Amino acid sequence: MITLKFKKFNIEAYKPGKSRVKKLRKVIKLSANESALGLSPKVKRLISNKKLILDKYPDGKSKDLRKAISKTYNCNFEKIICGAGSDEVIQMICQLFLNPKDEVVLPEYSFLMYRIYSKVVGAKVVFSKEINFKISIKEILKKVNKKTKIVFIANPNNPTGTYLTKKEVLELRKKLNKNILLVIDDAYAEYMKNSDYSSGLNLFKNKDNVFILRTFSKIFGLASLRVGWGYGSKKIIDRLNLIKPPFNVNRIAQLAAVEALKDKKFVNRSIKHNFFYANKIKKFLEKYNIFSNTVSANFLFLNFEKCRYSSNFFYQKLKSKGIILRSTKDGYHINNRLRLTIGSSKENLKFMNTVKGIFD
Ligand SMILES: Cc1ncc(COP(=O)(O)O)c(C=O)c1O
Repeated sequence: MITLKFKKFNIEAYKPGKSRVKKLRKVIKLSANESALGLSPKVKRLISNKKLILDKYPDGKSKDLRKAISKTYNCNFEKIICGAGSDEVIQMICQLFLNPKDEVVLPEYSFLMYRIYSKVVGAKVVFSKEINFKISIKEILKKVNKKTKIVFIANPNNPTGTYLTKKEVLELRKKLNKNILLVIDDAYAEYMKNSDYSSGLNLFKNKDNVFILRTFSKIFGLASLRVGWGYGSKKIIDRLNLIKPPFNVNRIAQLAAVEALKDKKFVNRSIKHNFFYANKIKKFLEKYNIFSNTVSANFLFLNFEKCRYSSNFFYQKLKSKGIILRSTKDGYHINNRLRLTIGSSKENLKFMNTVKGIFD
C-alpha cells in the first residue's frame, strides 16, 4: 500500500460565488463582484482578433503591461509585478515573507485568500475584531506581536463593503511596528467616490513597508483572464521575481489589460453606473428593512436583522427565480447577511422586481 504524507494545514477551501441553479438554464449572477458592464468593447475587439500569437510563450515580465500601468497610475515601472489575478500576488507575498509559526494579522471578515495562502505556508493566522463590520485599527494593534510579519487589509473591504478613511489608513501605518509589512488590497479602489477615502497606491507609492494589490477583475471586467498586479519596494519586487512562475500572465490577459487601461470612457461609465445603481438599490431595499453599508465598491452588504424575512429565505427565494447572491455564511461565517453585486441595468431591474414580488 502507498502512504503519501500530505502537509498538514487547517484550511476551508475557498467557495466562490455560485453561478448555477439546478434546472435553470439562464441565471443572473450577482454573487462574485464581477463587472456590471462586462468588458470594454475595445478589449472585446482586440481579443477576438484571429491573428493573436498563442503558440509562443508570453512575456514573463509583462513589460508592456507594466509600462501601461505605470503611465496610467503614475507609478514606478520597476516596482510593479503582475500576477495571474491579484490572487497569485497574494500567494507570492505569503511565500516570500512567511516562515512556519510567523503570524499574520487579518481583520476577522477579510477576503478569504489571505488566510488560505498564509496557512498553506505554515503561518499562524490571528484575527482582529471588527466593529460593526468595519476594520478596527485598535483591534489590529492589539493582535500584533513580535511574531507578526504581515497585516493584510482590503480597502474597501470585501465582503463588508466598509472602508477605512485616508486618515485611518495613515494612522494604522504610523502605529504599526515599522518592520511589519502592511498589505493594502485596492481591488475596488476605482469605484470609490467617497471624499474621505484614498487608495493604498495613492498614499504609499514610496513606502518600503507597504505593499499594494490591484486587479483587472473588477472595474476592468477581465475576471476570467486572471490578471492583477502588486506594487512595492524594488527590493520586494526583485525577490518576488525570484519565486514568480516564469510565464504567469498569459498573452491575451496582458494585451487585454493594456487595452482596458486605455479605455477611460468605459471605466468612467462603469463607475457612474455602479454609483447610480448601488444608491438606487440601497434605498429600494431599505423600504423592506434590508439595510446596507454606505455605498463604496461594486457590491452591497445586506443586513436582514430588521427584515421580515431571514437572509436565507431571501437567498433561496431569489435563487428559485434564477438570481444568485453571495451567502456570507460560506467561508466568512456571517449570519443573516448577504452580499449583492451591482449588475447591469437589466439585471438590477429584474432583481428589484423580483424582490417586490417576494414582499408584496
Ligand atoms: C478584496 C479582494 N482582493 C482580491 C480579489 C481577487 O481578485 P483577482 O481576481 O485579481 O484574483 C478579490 C476578488 O473578489 C477581492 O474581493
